Amino acid sequence: MKTKIKQINFKFNDKNILKAKFILKKYPKKFSSSALLPLLHLAQDQLDGWLNKPAIEYIAKYLNIPLINVYEVATFYHMFNLEKVGKYCIHVCTTTPCWLKGSDNILRQIEKNFKIKVGNTTKDNQITLKEIECLGACINAPLIKINNNFYENLSSKDVQNLINKIKEEKKIHLTKNNA
Ligand code: FES
Repeated sequence: MKTKIKQINFKFNDKNILKAKFILKKYPKKFSSSALLPLLHLAQDQLDGWLNKPAIEYIAKYLNIPLINVYEVATFYHMFNLEKVGKYCIHVCTTTPCWLKGSDNILRQIEKNFKIKVGNTTKDNQITLKEIECLGACINAPLIKINNNFYENLSSKDVQNLINKIKEEKKIHLTKNNA
């Protein structure tokens, strides 16, 4: 008996095709490869927060650039997830300024509340918790990023409020992952 291999394809949906064209228009034709970052973001948003291999291949073809160039970028920047993530992907910055302002406590607080260890996703696919290097907003340390949104100058009470809102599925003004 033949085993059916499930083909996972990717292409921009109608809405994102328009967005991709709009993005490309911002760059001179011979520098269209510079649209790589925003197009990867677009693909990641379409896939609810992560980039699979077909999406990476699609972007390479879309921009007519070598696949390796897309991989180099997608694997370098922490904002791209190469594995599925939960609906809420929480990044805690633990670099020195944030660490001095209590990022370790934030990490523990989130771990405890969602019964999750850093680097993991909850079984219900709601929460992914990641530790991350400097998010470039040290002046407002400590901070966390949930999906595409930054939450800065956080006290333990602020963190708890965010956690409670997620638990209660209240809107916390997220811009991706359909939240
Ligand atoms: Fe956390 Fe820079 S150290 S944002």
